[in-house]
Amino acid sequence: MILVTGGAGFIGSNFVLDWLAQSDEPVLNLDALTYAGNLANLASLQGNSRHVFVHGDIGDRALVDQLLSTHQPRAIVHFAAESHVDRSIHGPGAFMKTNVEGTFNLLEAARAYWGTLQGEARANFRFHHVSTDEVYGSLKPTDPPFAETNPYEPNSPYSASKAASDHLVRAWHHTYGLPVLTTNCSNNYGPYHFPEKLIPLMIVNALAGRPLPVYGDGQQIRDWLYVKDHCSGIRAVLAGGRLGETYNIGGWNEMANIDIVKTVCKLLDELRPDPAGPYARLITYVTDRPGHDRRYAIDARKIERELGWRPAETFETGIRKTVQWYLNHAEWVAQVQSGAYKEWVAANYQAR
Ligand code: NAD
Ligand code: TYD
Repeated sequence: MILVTGGAGFIGSNFVLDWLAQSDEPVLNLDALTYAGNLANLASLQGNSRHVFVHGDIGDRALVDQLLSTHQPRAIVHFAAESHVDRSIHGPGAFMKTNVEGTFNLLEAARAYWGTLQGEARANFRFHHVSTDEVYGSLKPTDPPFAETNPYEPNSPYSASKAASDHLVRAWHHTYGLPVLTTNCSNNYGPYHFPEKLIPLMIVNALAGRPLPVYGDGQQIRDWLYVKDHCSGIRAVLAGGRLGETYNIGGWNEMANIDIVKTVCKLLDELRPDPAGPYARLITYVTDRPGHDRRYAIDARKIERELGWRPAETFETGIRKTVQWYLNHAEWVAQVQSGAYKEWVAANYQAR
């Protein structure tokens, strides 16, 4: 089996669902169920004996040791993290705890477990660390996209904590020989995306007739990757990536935020027209995010050259599937917007 951390979050749950749909190999899913973790994402796996869910913290060494020795996974795929830049600005502590200390704890537990393995089990073991393109900092308009060789220049508490975790993973390979792989990917979008991030926030706000808050001038550029393409990229690296290497995963889809928001509005106009008028009427420019990175772009040629991976979706096909998914899953949206979600929206948007 494989051990997945953070498998109740956005990307982790998509990864677990895709994995179990494509492979007989069971998944042990360790997740602390923070505000971002949601067992409803995994509801279709109820009664599936190949999915074992454990509610726990990657920072709990005794628990992780016990899970590794009992279940003897052949790989760890590490998604668990605090993942939202705006939350890292409001409260960076949790990011240091989970992203830095949690990853350190997991590496130490993996190292101890790997030390007990022998022969093929030892040779085949993998620690796959899932990270972000934000560790490379911000690009100028004419800069080439991020290659794996770009220097690390993280600018937010979130990206700094992810950069720190990447460095730990690298060091555990160089110093202890732990068989690690790291992937740094661009902005994901797709089903089960928590509506604190740009695309799902715009969809749920538009459907509720609320303002669509665009930070600053809306000209910040991100490279958008459909989440299922990210999952297939991780599977490709896990299966064939060279030990100790990092692979950038991107969608070849650089777009300005305002164009993303307008695209979402147009699709909603088509799929769920609002009698009150086009959804773009709700676009509202608000105070910018402090330290807002201007541009991210990924050069994903290494994973293509070495492993033959390319994204299957264009932005046009992926965003249409995504908007349709949100329209079809109103109950999921209502459930994630209850409780603490409202407090976050008030904390982040009221003073803007
Ligand atoms: P998410 O916030 O949706 O999910 C994170 C999951 O981790 C949640 O289920 C949460 O409960 C769990 N978790 C948090 N702290 C934990 C802890 N201490 N112990 C165990 N579980 C814990 O995040 P996501 O968007 O799915 O991102 C997954 C990974 O991919 C993260 O490492 C993130 O840095 C990385 N990443 C995300 C994106 C993106 O666009 N979403 C882009 C690049 C990289
Ligand atoms: P986000 O989804 O938070 O991802 P990240 O900060 O990791 O790239 O934000 C994507 C972009 O959208 C980013 O440039 C900030 C911007 N943004 C808005 O303009 N308005 C919003 O309400 C949010 C959440 C993000």
